Amino acid sequence: MKKSIGSKIGIGLLSLFIIVFVIYAIVQYFIFGPQTSPYIKEKQEIVKGFQYHPWIYILYIHIFFGIFALILGPFQFSKKLHQKKKELHRNIGKIYVFSIFIASMVGLYLSFYGTGGIVSVIGFYTLDIAWIITTLIGFLKIRKKEIQSHNEWMLRSYAVTFTFVTFRIWGMFALMISHERGFLYGLTIIFSWVLNILIAQWIILRSKKRIDIYNEIKTTVR
Ligand code: HEM
Repeated sequence: MKKSIGSKIGIGLLSLFIIVFVIYAIVQYFIFGPQTSPYIKEKQEIVKGFQYHPWIYILYIHIFFGIFALILGPFQFSKKLHQKKKELHRNIGKIYVFSIFIASMVGLYLSFYGTGGIVSVIGFYTLDIAWIITTLIGFLKIRKKEIQSHNEWMLRSYAVTFTFVTFRIWGMFALMISHERGFLYGLTIIFSWVLNILIAQWIILRSKKRIDIYNEIKTTVR
């Protein structure tokens, strides 16, 4: 089946967002340094009980492994790679799962100090747990050789990974409505990951429908 123009545009936009946000993370934290980040300055002022150390070291671990997950994920959905270079697909998959394991474990600590109060903290925790669950199920499915189900769960897992990007976009809109990093900002985190999961679910159902139609045509032609 050939890719439609719509899916080509989708893949182009997805790649662009990934590149922009990875460059942001590298330039801000590994080149300019965290002290120049307005987000960290604000956090030091408004988050009660926040201590810069050891939080910043934990954030670095999170960003480092988060970048791997964000960049490597899309390669895994390439049919060419999957069919022609199975070993490479397997190795990238292992790095993807390992990166999420580390980034999400330290994410549990970071979530506790999330900027934006209790709703934000709940938002980050639920996001983190959705990240762990979807990736773990995707991993267990392939151990059981349930390929179709593995593909679907890994798509859900990447939809959650991609929340790092969509949350920053929705978060900008939320800050336009209210300058405070409060209830609305926190709600945006939950909205972002739930919406991403729903989009992944829609993609899964759409491709299942397409395969059904394709099989139906094939049997009618015979
Ligand atoms: C999808 C699951 C993820 C969860 C649960 C999560 C969790 C968090 C948390 C709790 C913080 C601290 C936010 C705060 O204190 O207000 C944070 C910050 C950050 N995370 Fe993640 N994260 C995820 C994905 C990623 C990915 C894939 C990347 C890849 C680059 C990433 C990069 C960052 C960066 C750069 C920051 C610093 C904040 C900023 O400058 O925007 N995160 N994350």
